[in-house]
Amino acid sequence: MGKELTRLLETASPSEQEQMKKDIEGFQKLFRSLLQRRGPSVEWEKIQKAPEDSIQSYDKIKAQGVLGDVTPLLSKLVVVKLNGGLGTSMGCKGPKSLISVRNENTFLDLTVLQIEHLNRTYGADVPLVLMNSFNTDEDTKKILQKYRQSRVKIHTFNQSRYPRIDKESLLPIAKGLSLSGDNAEAWYPPGHGDIYASFYNSGLLQTFLQEGKEYVFVSNIDNLGATVDLNILRHLLNPPNGRRCEFLMEVTDKTRADVKGGTLIQYDGKLRLLEIAQVPKAHVDEFKSVTKFKIFNTNNLWISLAAIERLQKENAINMEIILNPKTLDDGRNVIQLETAVGAAIKCFENALGINVPRSRFLPVKTTSDLMLVMSNLYSLNAGSLTMSDKREFRTVPLVKLGSSFTKVQDYLKRLESIPDILELDHLTVSGDVTFGKHVVLKGTVIIIANHGDRIDIPPGAVLENKIVSGNLRI
Ligand code: UTP
Repeated sequence: MGKELTRLLETASPSEQEQMKKDIEGFQKLFRSLLQRRGPSVEWEKIQKAPEDSIQSYDKIKAQGVLGDVTPLLSKLVVVKLNGGLGTSMGCKGPKSLISVRNENTFLDLTVLQIEHLNRTYGADVPLVLMNSFNTDEDTKKILQKYRQSRVKIHTFNQSRYPRIDKESLLPIAKGLSLSGDNAEAWYPPGHGDIYASFYNSGLLQTFLQEGKEYVFVSNIDNLGATVDLNILRHLLNPPNGRRCEFLMEVTDKTRADVKGGTLIQYDGKLRLLEIAQVPKAHVDEFKSVTKFKIFNTNNLWISLAAIERLQKENAINMEIILNPKTLDDGRNVIQLETAVGAAIKCFENALGINVPRSRFLPVKTTSDLMLVMSNLYSLNAGSLTMSDKREFRTVPLVKLGSSFTKVQDYLKRLESIPDILELDHLTVSGDVTFGKHVVLKGTVIIIANHGDRIDIPPGAVLENKIVSGNLRI
């Protein structure tokens, strides 16, 4: 492996050398720990419930008194959005953050609007930082031009690129550093756990520390609920017990739909993120149960900048390796080694979980999620989505659109306008189905077009607790 990596490094141009060397070092560290791995990363018997005071309720944090002057608090904050991912799972080319989600606004537009509003309201100057990958950097930077005049300073840094390795030989499949031709699929961004090394290596982390910043708020760019929360920020900077917390993870109550999300446990005397991939097969059902593991990680994280710097210098950030096997377009079987940002919680001092309302977790992973955020269930205010007051039950409806809706383009073609779902509990759609303008869906609605059939829901139709199937017309 060493020889192969040296060969790859030699193909780098002088300007690429330094960055590539850092990337290769990071990859080697991960690869070495894979080889040293003996058995599962957690022993099930050693898992303990997180202590009572290590996961606090958001209401308790909020009730700690009046906020007072928040401008000094905001002067200590940096916001980082994880922007390394593509929109491929929704059939889009390019960065996921550039998909339009609401009134022609993309995830990136909404993020900028949110921070612009924050800065304007409080006379603050919170910077927005995007962690791009080699997949998203160019397209994102082009779009960033349009924010030159906005009231938000936007910075970017690039995460590492690691070589995919052949499943059998465990050697890199890359022939060189280029990202085209034979090499088009030879490199990958190694997951959001890469943020610690990349942020540090970019020099931006140190710049922010010199400017007096203290905490970074990290979240997925596709989570529209991940806004800057002033109560959490105040708790971090002015902790009631005087003990600063180096890492705060926002968790939220698990429902049956989120059984796969990582949860917080106590392990070896520290808070730790337990992901389904680390759970022995015999305990997977127990892990998924809502009774034993009640909360899951939203990936909204607040981390001390000084602590990241210290741990990076000590080379003390260790995250479980996620082994991601893939079959490339040409049929080659490869493995990519990844890490997740939340997995580093165990390396920080005085870590804390805050159980936040579900509204802070509004991710858009599929077009079903997209339908929710585009609908009248939410209203848009300065880039933030809030659930409509007109919805009687504050839960989010369960929407499952079938495979003919997977790609954003198909989804948009099949919906003349987004149905009114204020009173919807559950929607399942399968097969060749289209919706006319101003359809209203209430209660539980199931629409199934069998193979070869097509169902067109006419404009203005009101479907309440209804099953539509076969080639029935309403
Ligand atoms: P994903 O959507 O890929 O992962 O990325 P997830 O939410 O952890 O897990 P899934 O979707 O349930 O499997 C979450 C965020 O992290 C960014 C993406 O752009 C997205 O904002 N990301 C992911 C990176 O910045 N770099 C990476 O290498 C991977």
